[in-house]
Amino acid sequence: MGPVLVSGPEGVGTSTTNGTIMTLLLNSRDFEAEARVRMTQSAYDYYAGGAGDEITVRENELAWNRLRLVPRMLVDVSACDLRTTVLGVPVSMPIMTAPCALNRLAHPDGERAVARAVAAEGTVQVLSTLSSESLEAVAQAAPAPRWFQLYVYRDREITRALVQRAAAAGYTAICLTVDVQRPGLRERDYRNNFSVPADVRAANFNEAIVDARSGSALLQYINDQFDPALGWEALEWLRSITSLPVVVKGILSPDDARLAVQHGAAGIAVSNHGGRQLDTVITSCDALAPIVDAVNGSAEVYVDGGIRRGTDVLKALALGARAVLVGRPYLWGLAVDGERGVRRVLALLREDLALSMALAGTPRIADVGRRLIASLSPIG
Ligand code: FNR
Ligand code: LAC
Repeated sequence: MGPVLVSGPEGVGTSTTNGTIMTLLLNSRDFEAEARVRMTQSAYDYYAGGAGDEITVRENELAWNRLRLVPRMLVDVSACDLRTTVLGVPVSMPIMTAPCALNRLAHPDGERAVARAVAAEGTVQVLSTLSSESLEAVAQAAPAPRWFQLYVYRDREITRALVQRAAAAGYTAICLTVDVQRPGLRERDYRNNFSVPADVRAANFNEAIVDARSGSALLQYINDQFDPALGWEALEWLRSITSLPVVVKGILSPDDARLAVQHGAAGIAVSNHGGRQLDTVITSCDALAPIVDAVNGSAEVYVDGGIRRGTDVLKALALGARAVLVGRPYLWGLAVDGERGVRRVLALLREDLALSMALAGTPRIADVGRRLIASLSPIG
């Protein structure tokens, strides 16, 4: 574990001190420790926490750690090229930001700060339906390719309007999240009676999330609004109302991956929602390779959950992911220093990945294959 840096009270909120602190924060874990002291307990717990005993939250990270790399030597790695494409759009590295609700809990600039940081780093932001800045305001904050993450509301007209607004605002794909028919058992949120501050709204609807009948305003909102009867027909319906490519997020089984492709998905995001939905599900790391094999090139496959290091990204690519998404790491960057914090987190991941690719003897993304992973390619 890296040093735990706690900013002195005089430094909180001043960018100079933030700048100094930031040079001492070298990885996601450092950023988390620093973010934690800047956030309220209940906002931190909402971000960091997961469902049930949080076994999946922990195992997501451990699963990447468990894989062992088999590097190749004496390859010219004087120039490493991290560029790739996602759904045909060029990105500077295979790392995107995952859709996370309510970014303004971390920083007043919220999703707009993330938009600017992601654009500056040359990659793609996936904006949550539950963003705390409107999808139009985020699109205006930085001109960059951006995906819109969609939750399907019980009221399909609400859902249709969101998709139309996203298309009108220039979002280039719809990321349909399929693992929140009901919210997971977030005990931290119940314990904290998690309520969303009045200035942090579901901005796409200009709606406050204040009702705390069940001990967590957000979980109550999801229960009230999201469609628990969501089925595969929703994907057909979505494709009938938009020409944007659809990425299905929250897939863990190869059978579901095949169904998603059959229903027209252009991409699959292998994900267990960062351990926030059903506890003790398979880790996204372990789910990845069988899904890549099942999809067999007919859609792009992405993965998120527990990715904290360049080596984690390298392993995901080796198992067949086109790109990864990171969730909590950029939220910690946002909490520490807004746009600059998010940039720093992304830049650190980029440098870590570039170094990992060099040391593995795979200077180009195209060189990264399963032979890099020891467990799948035993020595001898
Ligand atoms: C999420 N996630 C999420 N996913 C989604 O499709 N829509 C959403 O609104 C949210 N909201 C959300 C809030 C917070 C605070 C977190 C931490 C996560 C899940 C997210 O997109 C992603 O799947 C995980 O965060 C990936 O795991 P890591 O990188 O956080 O370990
Ligand atoms: C969450 C929902 C909003 O994970 O996706 O908190």
